[in-house]
Amino acid sequence: MNFKEELEKKTGETEEIVKRYLPAPEGFQRRVLEAMDYAVSAGGKRLRPLLMRESAALFGDAGEGLSCFMAALEFIHTYSLIHDDLPALDNDDYRRGRKTTHVVYGEDIAVIAGDGLLNYAYETALRAFEKAVTIEDYQRTECALKILGRKAGVYGMVGGQCADLLAEKPETEVTEEMLLYIHRNKTAALIQAAMMIGAVLAGADEKAVERMERCAENIGIAFQIQDDILDVTSSLEVLGKPTGSDEKNHKLTYVTMHGLEESKRQVAALSEEAVGILKGFPHRNVFLETLVEQLIYREK
Ligand code: IPE
Ligand code: IPE
Ligand code: MG
Ligand code: MG
Ligand code: MG
Repeated sequence: MNFKEELEKKTGETEEIVKRYLPAPEGFQRRVLEAMDYAVSAGGKRLRPLLMRESAALFGDAGEGLSCFMAALEFIHTYSLIHDDLPALDNDDYRRGRKTTHVVYGEDIAVIAGDGLLNYAYETALRAFEKAVTIEDYQRTECALKILGRKAGVYGMVGGQCADLLAEKPETEVTEEMLLYIHRNKTAALIQAAMMIGAVLAGADEKAVERMERCAENIGIAFQIQDDILDVTSSLEVLGKPTGSDEKNHKLTYVTMHGLEESKRQVAALSEEAVGILKGFPHRNVFLETLVEQLIYREK
């Protein structure tokens, strides 16, 4: 199997896991459940759960609880997208090749669909305790939950989104430091959660988890710079979401600060550094290394 075929196969498996944990729309809360289903089922690259599973594979057997965390992280990521697209935030009409959740279900339902996914994510992650057998399984699950909570919250993605929104205001002077904070948190934090949780569940020691955190930080920053590049160079058809969103919102990005060429160089440099860290572990996961390398050239 070549890389592309392997990626398709693994993305398909990840897709199945995510769908398996998605609650069925029923009862008086049917509408919010439908909106949650609409946003999650639209697809997307499933990069975070995929990175989680591959990071786990680098260290050993992560046990049954891994799938709970894979689904949970994709739910959190999807909620962040629903809210990110709302008129009060980026005000975008397309996501994952479809109309955004608030366009289809209204802003009211879209807000609570995000809330619903965020809460259900933790319910899903907690199910990993039901799958724990040994004391060690319990301890690893506890540690993974702490990482998930931290990286998704105000000291992670939510904090990054806050700074990102502030940076749009004309009175804010955006420094290089602030831009780095934004990238590190709004985007890298969930990628760190993915790779650290995978490592923790598979029994990686503290030092190895720290190295995964650094590796994922590089990947995450590169991922956001590439997202900002594509916002300028791509199209709605290829990307599945509108281009020009950053310009519309007067967002200062790595691209506006440093230009396209320098941004592309940064994406390559950060990704290569990340691959270097991966190659330094006692075991190799060539698929994971290739996945990170290929992100430099991603077109969506
Ligand atoms: C989009 O993430 C939001 C960013 C952090 C740039 P993805 O590009 O992973 O979106 P999906 O999940 O594939 O739709
Ligand atoms: C958003 O960054 C990152 C999130 C936490 C959702 P962007 O606003 O650039 O993401 P897109 O381009 O809308 O996916
Ligand atoms: Mg945004
Ligand atoms: Mg956006
Ligand atoms: Mg963007």
